[in-house]
Amino acid sequence: MNRLQGRKLVLGVTGGVAAYKAAELVRLLGKAGADVHVVLTEGGARFVTAVTFQALSGNPVWTDLWDPRMDNNMAHIDLVRGADAVLIAPATADCLARLAQGRADDLLSTLCLARDVPLLVAPAMNRQMWEHPATQRNVACLAGDGVTIVGPAAGEQACGETGMGRMLEPEELFEAVIAFFVPKRLAGRKVVMTAGPTYEAIDPVRAITNTSSGKMGYAIAAACARAGAEVVLVSGPVALPVPAGVKRVDVRSALDMRAAVFDALPGADVFVGVAAVADYRPMLAAEHKIKKSGEQMSITLTPNPDILAEVAALSDAPFCVGFAAESRDLDAYAEGKRANKKLPMLVGNLVADGLGGDDNTVVLYDDAGRHPLPRAAKADLAAQIVDHMAGLLPPVGGR
Ligand code: C5P
Repeated sequence: MNRLQGRKLVLGVTGGVAAYKAAELVRLLGKAGADVHVVLTEGGARFVTAVTFQALSGNPVWTDLWDPRMDNNMAHIDLVRGADAVLIAPATADCLARLAQGRADDLLSTLCLARDVPLLVAPAMNRQMWEHPATQRNVACLAGDGVTIVGPAAGEQACGETGMGRMLEPEELFEAVIAFFVPKRLAGRKVVMTAGPTYEAIDPVRAITNTSSGKMGYAIAAACARAGAEVVLVSGPVALPVPAGVKRVDVRSALDMRAAVFDALPGADVFVGVAAVADYRPMLAAEHKIKKSGEQMSITLTPNPDILAEVAALSDAPFCVGFAAESRDLDAYAEGKRANKKLPMLVGNLVADGLGGDDNTVVLYDDAGRHPLPRAAKADLAAQIVDHMAGLLPPVGGR
């Protein structure tokens, strides 16, 4: 379920130094299967040449309203015809002003006026230009016209100043474009979830843990956020960036994870347990590093609480989704786990290739039966899992 596959996008590039980031954005969009058509303004072409965008998009680049390459001389109409969206990145202060006024004196402004598809703009300018009341007026006017404003961010600027006005990074814009196309099926919902391994200390430098990478959990968190949910992700130690729009709470042990989950739980509509929580922890963690003696030694383990089962047993439990990674008899174990923990939905996967890969094969289990999903990248599976879950939720406020 790649949301960008086959989408036709028109990317406007106006005259700001951030235009160099647009080149990387074109590459990311193209790699995800989008058909990108770049429109360069005169100012944009001063920063990056048409050749760069043509090579990266595989499509001709357009700059001129009177371009004779278009049979009917109507580039402004033909480019947006059949497009799924127009994105302008970077959008300069002048570009925002001209869009707000409805000007139509170059190709980009004219096609924006002639479009009946969504418009996203990623402002990029010096912080004083961004803060100027005129720019703020224009931005408010565009937002009122239904334009989606993406960014800007605060930070170091090309002019040497620091402040608001820096264009979002290409990866952030890419994420914003994907999120834009995801139906907001979880709008108004709060999702609390766990991901990653837990780390059960033996002494200050050693622990019992597992090889969970957190990738599946983080992909689910990202998919929930894209679907419009407020997401709190309680995460064991992993080396992954926080997905856009997700609040991450870092924990190490199962006990810390349990405490953080119960802290975040009030008001939650959904709880998703993706974490590979250690079943046991050392009864006592040594205060100092244990020295070797050459003798046999044993560590006494005590069971950890089952966070998911505890949440599902609450009298006002949110909609609970569990995960089961099994090395055999997936159906039997998964259905058993769903029944024992009283879960309306469970995601099962056979861990033939171990944890931590980028792809996965999963089967969804719910009251209606089993629903196998074809093997896919974890990000794509996450979107399908979240879609399935959204379809099972009671109406907002109806719990
Ligand atoms: O019983 P099992 O550990 O296989 O169950 C897996 C599911 O239960 C996962 O959703 C996992 O996140 C959750 N779980 C939990 N706390 C535990 C053990 C598992 O929340 N202590």
